[in-house]
Amino acid sequence: MKPHDLLDVAHLLVGHHLTKHDVVVDMTAGNGHDTVFLARHAGHVLAYDIQPQAIEQTRLHLAREALDNVTLIQDSHVNIKDHVGPFKGFVFNLGYLPGGDKTITTRTDTTIQAIKTALSLLAVDGFMLVVCYPGHPEGEREARAVDDIMARLDHAHYHVIKTHLPNTRSPSPYFYFLTSSSAKKKDE
Ligand SMILES: C[S@@+](CC[C@H](N)C(=O)[O-])C[C@H]1O[C@@H](n2cnc3c(N)ncnc32)[C@H](O)[C@@H]1O
Repeated sequence: MKPHDLLDVAHLLVGHHLTKHDVVVDMTAGNGHDTVFLARHAGHVLAYDIQPQAIEQTRLHLAREALDNVTLIQDSHVNIKDHVGPFKGFVFNLGYLPGGDKTITTRTDTTIQAIKTALSLLAVDGFMLVVCYPGHPEGEREARAVDDIMARLDHAHYHVIKTHLPNTRSPSPYFYFLTSSSAKKKDE
């Protein structure tokens, strides 16, 4: 299974949890594949990326698909803290822009900060997808920190699954998909 197949599985899970009434956040728009998927299945999408190139790619991708239910935000996803939730879901597809500058990548400290904020803004019965790429040095550090935060979530309030590729050469990408239960604690 290739990384894009892994994302197909992730999209199946995300699609299963979305309705046209939901507002969701793509925390890393990149080339817009995830944003387009979310826009097809949700009511409205906020999509963050720090790179103008990524915002432009995503804008073009959405225009090709005639999708107009996305607000593109060229900013760090840590600033989701300025929004009032709840949001039905969050997608973090970490790492660098495919085909872009590999030195501009998501970073451990801001990713963890953004995941914590996203948890606090997540709706009851919401979801979060986090795709990790441990195959480069910052991605490896970031993936370990994501592992840590996922392992510490109270299983009474969050159902967490991890999907990886056991028969590919490691370190291969993997993802976490979590859903919040109706008993979700407000302070996480
Ligand atoms: C793997 S790509 C995302 C792929 C994308 N979801 C798609 O479907 O094409 C990761 C993206 O995260 C962006 N990024 C890095 N740090 C960020 C931050 N602090 N806030 C928002 N986006 C960030 C990068 O610019 C890059 O475009």
